Amino acid sequence: MILAVDQGTSSTKATLFDASGAPVASAAVPLVQSHPSPGWVEQDAVLILGSVREVIARIADEHAVEAVALSTQRESALVWDRASGQPVGPMLGWQDRRTASRAVAHAAQAARVRAITGLPLDPMFSALKLAWLLDRVDPDRSRSRRGELAVGTVDSWLVTALTGEHRIEAGNASRTQLLDLGTGEWSEELCELFDIPDALLPRVAASDEPTAELTDLPGRSIHAILGDSHAALFGHGVRRPGAVKATYGTGSSVMGLAADAGDIPDGLVGTLAWRLGDVPQVAFEGNILASGATLAWLSRLLSRPVEELVALARDVPSTHGVTLVPAMSGLGAPHWDPDARAVLVGFDLGTEPAVLARAAMEAIAHQITDVLDAAATAAPIESILADGAPAADDFLMQLQADVAGRTVRRPELTGLSARGAAQLAAETIGGSFDAVESTTFTPAGDNRATRAQWSRALNLTRKEN
Ligand code: G3P
Repeated sequence: MILAVDQGTSSTKATLFDASGAPVASAAVPLVQSHPSPGWVEQDAVLILGSVREVIARIADEHAVEAVALSTQRESALVWDRASGQPVGPMLGWQDRRTASRAVAHAAQAARVRAITGLPLDPMFSALKLAWLLDRVDPDRSRSRRGELAVGTVDSWLVTALTGEHRIEAGNASRTQLLDLGTGEWSEELCELFDIPDALLPRVAASDEPTAELTDLPGRSIHAILGDSHAALFGHGVRRPGAVKATYGTGSSVMGLAADAGDIPDGLVGTLAWRLGDVPQVAFEGNILASGATLAWLSRLLSRPVEELVALARDVPSTHGVTLVPAMSGLGAPHWDPDARAVLVGFDLGTEPAVLARAAMEAIAHQITDVLDAAATAAPIESILADGAPAADDFLMQLQADVAGRTVRRPELTGLSARGAAQLAAETIGGSFDAVESTTFTPAGDNRATRAQWSRALNLTRKEN
């Protein structure tokens, strides 16, 4: 019995898997974010820790647990006092944009940062957040250098609090923008650039290195830790370059394994998927900023629930040229244009909400396809592995297959991040999970006209057009 905790942005969920990988029990605690200023996103790390303790207790009270696995939200970062174990300041969430001006100030070093870390210099990653937090609590870094403070991502915060070991899983470490993707070690050059003394940093550990014993579960350890997106890739069974997964959510993440750090397609970022023992595995990732967020926006605009919009969209066979490019927060991968503006083109006096709903769903599929096409410049991509709550919708999955001109395979299981982490934990103790059943969606028709229409609309989002 493996207990997998999936610590996400909006909730902490625990799922107990039996030896075949079937889920047998679950528990969840919802979480909130706060937005003290525009663009600021904070979470309470103590509440997150409490939620993890609660879901572990709820499952372990009723079932025997052999090993624990952990998948976590990535990039969110905090500083804590080593002696008290209490956070000093809030945890800055991965969506927090308060450090955008710091990213601009470091623009001259952006190419160097990307060369070392595989990541664009962006407020999403932890380094700029940690520097902002430290400037508040330790402006001259004297407490940091004396070893009084510690920093971490969600996984390192939880492992430290639950086991006493200050460590970070390699894949999560690669999202801090402080890790050298080539060596797998902290980069001295970047610690200096961002003014983060190395005395603050956790030890980088393999994804499958068991932790010390959990104080809440004596005799049991965490056997596997993965970033949530990475865990979903592992849960799909992807172990070598070739297959690509798309996780649908508020935004979307498209990810596949790469041969090495030099093998990242243009427009996508390089990251460590995981490190098993001494063997690192590099991945590429393309993040799309507005997937489910597009439907949520349309739902507010038309005052209709998202489910109703999805049902309406199913009833229209085509948008008849109406195209929505949801660049409300600019464009993410592979275009990376923070100044792009959203556009809606081709509508007339007869355009109905159903057509707008279909255009919004097509926009999700087109954005994913843009990333797949960028990734396919390195190696052909014939099929997509889909996960995330919106992937449960058959209409969206068929639309994705049609728009991408590629087969879509969707496992009949939600919560692939938890399963992926649990699967890795099972492997560390000699177990192995059965394959998950999946449904296949085969592309129908010719996607060239719809892709050309999308490209024309996409061009209109650029400021210069
Ligand atoms: O990169 C951020 C991502 O890991 C957050 O995932 O599932 O909490 O939205 P989620």
